[in-house]
Amino acid sequence: MKDKLIAGLDIGTTKICVLIARIKQGEDFEILGVGTAPSQGLTKGVITDIKKTSSMIKAAVRKAEARAGLKIKRIWVSIAGGHIQGTNSQGFIKIEKEDKRITSKEVEKALEETSHIILPSDKEIIHILPQEFVINGQNEVKDPIGITGTTLGARAHVITASSNCRQDIENSVESLRYKCEGITLQCLASSMATLSPDEEDLGVALLDIGGGTTDLAVFLKKGMRFTYVLGVGGNQITNDIAVGFHTTKVKAEEMKIGYGAALPGYFKKEEGIEVEKVAERGVYRIKEKDLLGVIQPRVEEMFELVDKELKKSGYKDLITAGIVLTGGSSLLRGIKEKAEEVLGLPTRIGYTNIKDPQELANPIYATSVGLILYGIKRRKELASKAKFGVRVKKWLKDFF
Ligand SMILES: Nc1ncnc2c1ncn2[C@@H]1O[C@H](COP(=O)(O)OP(=O)(O)OP(=O)(O)O)[C@@H](O)[C@H]1O
Ligand SMILES: [Mg+2]
Repeated sequence: MKDKLIAGLDIGTTKICVLIARIKQGEDFEILGVGTAPSQGLTKGVITDIKKTSSMIKAAVRKAEARAGLKIKRIWVSIAGGHIQGTNSQGFIKIEKEDKRITSKEVEKALEETSHIILPSDKEIIHILPQEFVINGQNEVKDPIGITGTTLGARAHVITASSNCRQDIENSVESLRYKCEGITLQCLASSMATLSPDEEDLGVALLDIGGGTTDLAVFLKKGMRFTYVLGVGGNQITNDIAVGFHTTKVKAEEMKIGYGAALPGYFKKEEGIEVEKVAERGVYRIKEKDLLGVIQPRVEEMFELVDKELKKSGYKDLITAGIVLTGGSSLLRGIKEKAEEVLGLPTRIGYTNIKDPQELANPIYATSVGLILYGIKRRKELASKAKFGVRVKKWLKDFF
């Protein structure tokens, strides 16, 4: 791997975050620069005004470059939104050569077979995430290379996205003369930065609660099994506060972050807090029960929707390691306890293991940190000819 520099760009509905890192050894890296900017021109994770989004990306990249003291050329970028869909698919090939030992070539072929899903013309595949392989129709293995068999089956979680949305992301980056090194699903990136191999094996649901969307991904036996994007996030809570108390969104956000909670017991101001009404004179006081009365039902509703989707997916009873919360809204006081109450599963907040700078441990940066980890992994895979041959590159050439 010649290029030791790697960069990630998380385009969220509320913030844009760029990380620049230097790869040290293996998957080890050091952060050289961080740049953030408020997001503009995005609705529920999807670009609706490319000019605005581009200018905020520019602001974030330039900040990260200034901190790192260098310029980058290419960058790994996140994708999310309601157009994302995940399907479990199977592929199957016969090992026809005389020597029946399975090599990376047969693995590629079997994985390629999983890509034959019904795909509307405006959709495309962005990830094929291997789950397991089946040799001779019965032996289930994680890594079939070197094993002898007459048939090889592959199971994979295939993620599709709207071609237009993917193109808009690329355009917003490339109009700034940066190359989009690859596109990565937000919750896949977040999972890489926060989940342990044991959790992914036992069964876990990652819930990235951002500003505009809540992204759900289920992992079991070390593979992604289910994905779902909910068009509700923390901004909805802010909106509810603004509407409920006739105040501005800026004030509502301050109230949420300063005093908001998903459960009683966190509001430390006996005397209540002052709220200014929009376009009206004077202020009025609100108490814990008032703010809770707005936040709690919305959070409960979000978790009820997640619960419904988890049950529908058939994985609810299989995620023994429970729930991991990431994204900015996972910082809401009492949200972990509320998730446990509604979903009935053990829950933890997904901090990353970045120590320098310490702020990147915050679950709000899970996607950005995950983009660096994902980028390092993909570069390695691509560099290793044994693992990825010409055919794989052909059908994923736009992304990797
Ligand atoms: N301390 C906090 N308490 C409660 N909510 C918070 C806190 N800090 C941030 N948030 C909320 O987190 C949300 C932003 O999270 P995040 O940065 O993960 O979103 P995003 O990545 O920009 O959006 P998305 O992933 O949905 O496109 C906002 O709604 C914000 O109000
Ligand atoms: Mg996000």
